[in-house]
Parts: sequence; structure tokens; C-alpha cells
Amino acid sequence: MTAWVLEDGFGLEKLTRSTRPLPQPRGAEVRLRVLAASLNYRDLVVVAGRHGKAITTPLIPVSDGVGVIEALGEDVTGFSLGDRVCPMFFQGWIGGEPPLDMHACALGGPLDGMLASYRVFAAQGLVRIPDALSDVEAASLPCAGVTAWSAIAEPRAVHPGETVLVLGTGGVALFAVQFARAAGARVIVTTSNPAKAALLRRMGAHHVIDRTRTRDWAAAVLSLTDGRGCDRVVELGGAETLNHSLTAVRPGGLVTLIGNVTGSRAELFLPLVLTRRVTMNSVSVGSGQAFERMLGAMTLHEIRPVIDRVYPFAQVPAAFARLAAQEHCGKICISMSTLDGAAPGRGA
Ligand SMILES: NC(=O)c1ccc[n+]([C@@H]2O[C@H](COP(=O)([O-])OP(=O)(O)OC[C@H]3O[C@@H](n4cnc5c(N)ncnc54)[C@H](OP(=O)(O)O)[C@@H]3O)[C@@H](O)[C@H]2O)c1
Repeated sequence: MTAWVLEDGFGLEKLTRSTRPLPQPRGAEVRLRVLAASLNYRDLVVVAGRHGKAITTPLIPVSDGVGVIEALGEDVTGFSLGDRVCPMFFQGWIGGEPPLDMHACALGGPLDGMLASYRVFAAQGLVRIPDALSDVEAASLPCAGVTAWSAIAEPRAVHPGETVLVLGTGGVALFAVQFARAAGARVIVTTSNPAKAALLRRMGAHHVIDRTRTRDWAAAVLSLTDGRGCDRVVELGGAETLNHSLTAVRPGGLVTLIGNVTGSRAELFLPLVLTRRVTMNSVSVGSGQAFERMLGAMTLHEIRPVIDRVYPFAQVPAAFARLAAQEHCGKICISMSTLDGAAPGRGA
């Protein structure tokens, strides 16, 4: 089988195509023929070697993908040959409270990820995918989709009529926009250029703020909400955006910490929280059961992931370059449908 591998050390220049033996499932494991994968900001951090000491090489990167079951271990129940499934981001988090060591079972580092033509997984780490979703749409769900679902729907669900502020047009952000719309919220989104703003309006965002023109976007949110502030913020920016987000949220509102695209060390102006009864919570993707609940809601509301661009497997470095340039809107995906003489999967 073929894979993109960081064999010895980190850096995009060290990501190379490599041939490995076909993995064999045992016991309660299945072998997937991988159909598609998608990139997350985290994958960029992992490949660059900036994710911390727990992730080492050799490593097959990239957490998210979809595959079809083509071999079953003798103890597998609940799945059949031909089922189309996504591996969960945290392989050990089935439902309820996460295991204490959940980060040790994250795909794409420290566990091998999805940039391979075949992968073996424990059946309990898989979620079956509805037929309505194409392969690349399904591949975009395990990290970005479930994270947005955890921010909007669980455990403190957005109520109809609430105002939700989402930062940016990346993978998590566009799922959050769609889930918040489906929950009946009024949605405000910040972005960085007119083309991305136009896409957001087509998706039904009620207000779009170009943060490159409106530097004080927190003031703009206050103005749009008659000085009250939004009910919650899907906080994806981190160091440079956190105090703005805390300014933009109403007293008693919720700021859900998810991302750190502008840096990880934030200086917090505490009165913004202490004097205004603001709640800050955080999200770590979500469980397999949350993934299944999200799929149910997506089917009901006919929500389709926003796919930015699809690259063939041979062009993985170009896909990473687009992600790094932050030119994308939604998910950057990799199609494996022509690998190893495989029959094509499900197209868009
Ligand atoms: N905690 C978790 O479980 C979890 C799970 C998934 C992701 N994350 C984190 O969430 C973040 C987003 O992940 P992703 O995969 O969705 O990333 P992504 O697809 O790369 O999107 C990042 C987006 O952030 C926006 N952005 C960049 N600079 C900004 C700034 N100064 N102010 C506001 N927005 C800015 C840009 O959108 P515009 O150009 O439209 O502004 C950019 O496209 C990352 O930090 C990631 O590590 C956390």
C-alpha cells in the first residue's frame, strides 16, 4: 500500500510517499480502503513539528478521512464488508466523559492518520456514514464537523433566537455557521476578504464583518446587537482575538474556546469576565456518539459540508500549502479514489 509518511523528523519537506505492507485486521479490527481525507489546521501544526513531544515520527499524518470496509477480523460485530465509515478523531472516546488519556488515541498524531491507501482500525472506533454524503464530504467530518457540533449543540445547545458570533471561514467555522443556522440562531461571522464574505452570505450568515477593514469588530458586534453583545462566541482565533471576543459577548454570555490560529498565549483582561458573569468553556472535538448525533442532525437539516478544493493523493503537499496560506473557505480534501487500482468511491 502507499502512504504519505514523516519517516524521520518534521517539516512539510520531510513528508514523502512511501510503500508499506498491506495491514491485516485481527480480532475486532477492520481494514479500510481509504477513499478520501481532509486537512485540518491541526495537521499543519503536527507536520511542522509544533504539536509537542507526545507526537513522534515515523508518522502517517492527517486525522480525518473516510473508507470502505474491505476486510474483517474474526471478532467484528455490527459492521459488514462494504460499509462506508469514518474513524473517530479520538479512537478511545466512544461516548460520555472522555478517557483521561484521550490525547494518546488521537489520529494523525500520536496514532497514524489517514494519508494512506489502507488503514486498520478497531471497529469500536468507527462511525457509519449516510449514503447522502460524498466521500470528500464524509472525510471532512471527524475533527472539524464534530468540534463545531460540540460548540453549538452539546452540552449547552444554542437556542432559537440567540445570536452566535463565529470567527473565520475555516473548516470548523463553516460547520458552526451551518449548525447555528439550523438551531435557529442569528449568525454573525468575521472574515478577511470580500469573496469569503460573499460565500458566508450565500450560506445564510445574517451579518458578515470584514475584520481587515473593521479592525474593532467587537464594537461592530455590539452595534449589530443594539449594544447588548452576542449570546455566544465560537472562539477560533486565540491569543489575538480572545479579548475582542470577550468584549463582543453579552453579560452572562458564553465564549467557547476552540482554536489558537493567532497564537496560544493570551493576556486576559479579567474584568471583561469577572464583572460580566461571562462563562468560558472549551471543546476537544467530541465523542463517537456525538459524531452520530451530528450526522442525524445533518441528515434532518440537509446540511452538506462546504468543500473548498479537492486534491489528488499525489498532490498532498500542494493541499497543505493552500491550508497554510489560509486562502481556503471550508474544507481542503484529498481524494484517494484512483489509488492502488481501487474502484472509485462516492462522488459529490
Ligand atoms: N479544540 C478542538 O477540539 C479543536 C478542533 C478543531 C480545530 N481546533 C482549532 O480551531 C482552529 C481552527 O481550525 P480549522 O481547522 O477550522 O482551521 P482553518 O480551516 O485553517 O481555518 C482558520 C481560519 O481562521 C481565520 N483566521 C485567521 N486569522 C484570524 C484572525 N486574526 N482573526 C480571526 N480569524 C482568523 C481564517 O478565516 P478568515 O480568513 O475567514 O478570517 C482562517 O481561514 C485551529 O486553531 C485549530 O487548531 C480545535
